[in-house]
Amino acid sequence: MPQLIAGNWKMHGLAAEAQALARGVAAGATGLACELLVCPPAIHVAAVAQILSGTPVAVGGQDCHQALQGAHTGDIAAAMLRDAGGSWVILGHSERRHNHGETDELVREKVLAATEAGLTPIVCVGETEDHRVGGQETEIVGWQIAGSLPKPFTGVVAYEPVWAIGTGKTATEQDVAMMHAFIREELVRQFGDAGQGIRILYGGSMRPANAAALLAVPNVGGGLIGGASLKAGDFLAIAKAASA
Ligand code: PGA
Repeated sequence: MPQLIAGNWKMHGLAAEAQALARGVAAGATGLACELLVCPPAIHVAAVAQILSGTPVAVGGQDCHQALQGAHTGDIAAAMLRDAGGSWVILGHSERRHNHGETDELVREKVLAATEAGLTPIVCVGETEDHRVGGQETEIVGWQIAGSLPKPFTGVVAYEPVWAIGTGKTATEQDVAMMHAFIREELVRQFGDAGQGIRILYGGSMRPANAAALLAVPNVGGGLIGGASLKAGDFLAIAKAASA
């Protein structure tokens, strides 16, 4: 299965910047062996999807509501993302878990809503620095997987240690190898053979200089990239590392 290189633009960029970034990514996206995805802020999804239609770059959202529709001021339904040209959605990112109090149970409901709308979910898991210092990293990630993924699950898991997100601190290859092997075991334990086929991305300060080494770790099926996805050149350099 090809590696998936996914850009999480978070809350960055006005319309003109988002569109320029999309054009920059599209310009270098042909001929790569990896799958490419960008997840702009929701308000830019439609325009970015229009720019990227007919290119190898897919578009996704950064969140969706668990309900199919209804009185939910300020929220976005999975079907709306789909309608705007999205085919993926990031769910349970640690920034949403922490800033918006999202629980594993809520993330699981969102995964069901996304799947029903025809979106492929990328479900984020990962321990905080305190958990890691306390030796609880696998326990926490195991609970998040058990709680956030419905059965059956058609999607991707992203391991993002919270202490490595936006900090410039990257998990070592050994940390990543250990955690991705653990996540694979958990997926197989919960989903049987299907668990072997679920891609597990690494996220947390991935950049052109460290991408090749991280992407070569066993059980790493791609990257979820924040900061380095805001520059088309850096994002494409990571995509090239994933295609080597
Ligand atoms: P980062 O963010 O690459 O800036 O660390 C990754 C993420 O939060 O998805």
